[in-house]
Amino acid sequence: MAQAQWWQRGIFYQVYPRSFQDTNDDGIGDLDGIRVRLDYLVGLGIDAVWISPIFPSPMADFGYDVADYRGIDPMFGDFSAFDRLIEEAHARRLKIVLDFVPNHTSDQHPWFVESRASRDNPRRDWYIWRDPAPDGGPPNNWMSNFGGPAWTHDPASGQYYYHAFLTQQPDLNWRNPQVRAAMHDVLRFWMARGVDGFRVDVIWHLMKDADFRDNPPNPEYGPGDPDIRRFLQTHSTDQPDVHSIIAELRGVIDEYDDRVLIGEIYLPIDRLVTYYGENLGGAHLPFNFQLIHAGWSAPRLAELIAEYDAALPEGGWPNWVLGNHDQSRIASRIGARRSRVAAMLLLTLRGTPTMYYGDEIGMENVPIATEDAQDPWEKNEPGLGLGRDPQRTPMQWDTSPNAGFTNGRPWLPLAADSATRNVAVQLEQPASLLGLYRELIALRRAHPVLHAGTYRKITALGDVLVFLRESAEECVLVALNLAGTAQDEIPLPPGTYGRVLLSTGRDREERVEGHLSLRPHEGVIVALDARS
Ligand code: GLC
Repeated sequence: MAQAQWWQRGIFYQVYPRSFQDTNDDGIGDLDGIRVRLDYLVGLGIDAVWISPIFPSPMADFGYDVADYRGIDPMFGDFSAFDRLIEEAHARRLKIVLDFVPNHTSDQHPWFVESRASRDNPRRDWYIWRDPAPDGGPPNNWMSNFGGPAWTHDPASGQYYYHAFLTQQPDLNWRNPQVRAAMHDVLRFWMARGVDGFRVDVIWHLMKDADFRDNPPNPEYGPGDPDIRRFLQTHSTDQPDVHSIIAELRGVIDEYDDRVLIGEIYLPIDRLVTYYGENLGGAHLPFNFQLIHAGWSAPRLAELIAEYDAALPEGGWPNWVLGNHDQSRIASRIGARRSRVAAMLLLTLRGTPTMYYGDEIGMENVPIATEDAQDPWEKNEPGLGLGRDPQRTPMQWDTSPNAGFTNGRPWLPLAADSATRNVAVQLEQPASLLGLYRELIALRRAHPVLHAGTYRKITALGDVLVFLRESAEECVLVALNLAGTAQDEIPLPPGTYGRVLLSTGRDREERVEGHLSLRPHEGVIVALDARS
């Protein structure tokens, strides 16, 4: 392939800034905290840091309710801290990617304050205002992702405004060219400041049905499901005209060299891949969350890898995500032992991997009592297990109080095992999960076939997944045992000879000839001999 771009070769690492490192003892992480941990990230081997929102915000949704797109919330620092972070990251060849939250603002954003001031305010049409239904209720049946109707009545003007998320997160009207132009300028503002790209929040939400038709009922909705599942999102998301909006965003990104546009998209594969855009003029990387929802069995994983590969448009670059701040942690989803195999899978699949902070040390969901919940979703729909606090707890750095995260009172509690499960401890143990991640990342760097080579399934039977990564220069075989039982003498294709480069146990280096045995929950990477 042509010389790969940095976002194709590299590995992304998501930092949830509230929880990474506090430097001013307020119990909340900050920009200086990210900066002082850059050398850790360099040692880990990642290439780009995506930072969840740092903009001024009332924090109703912890920064995903932006009150000023061109500022920094004092909680996280100021522009001098930001510029220093960019400078020190770039000096270490690390890229910095920001979260861009264009679908909605905070209700405290001056645009919304003006918009709600009166029906004839010039900014009225910057948001989505509708008259009540004939019975005085909401204009249609659309539900909020965080529970309840997606429309809030504004008594002063007698109209409802639309919010796909919280009442405090009114949706912008992307059909309005002034909104688009203002948001394009926001992207330029940050790129001029040195930002290397954006992860675009809920990009598939940007356009809504022009006629605001009711969504159809979801036949699979059942008791215990969140409100958002009552109806299919047929008319409220993933509208055909969203792609021209994204193409415009991409046009702005392309005004600057070497920047990346990543889209957050929760859709089935066939819909997801449309977000590469016509002639690949959409998102460079529409986030692929298949591994987050996948059943952890070899046939299932093989099936979704094949389905994704086949669905990619010509030239569309794949990517894989194991976790993020909205999802249960991988170690909790599949168990600590299997998460070593998951790490090997993530880092040996074709395409760009994205890691979530703390997953590299096996951080687990931390139980948060209902009365201590911070996440608005948990507060709105309590007890359904929807809360996202458990996967947002502070990073576990060392054995000092609060695991080195803060000298103050942490905004969320540390995990009970933080004194033993932390970076400092795992750096001392080559066989630790962190040791494995570091080695996997180093291998991926040393063997370009791992990011760029073709993928070919060999075996996906029972609990064993075996695949080949091939390029003109090298060929690597990956064999993963997803089960807690040993797998003896797994047959490999005729003529398969090679050498174990890495085992998830970090204790194997033997030659492989024709077959391979795997211990419980073991994965291996085998460099195959060059064929004569
Ligand atoms: C995205 C974010 C999530 C946020 C929501 C609303 O899904 O990842 O954390 O709550 O958008 O902005």
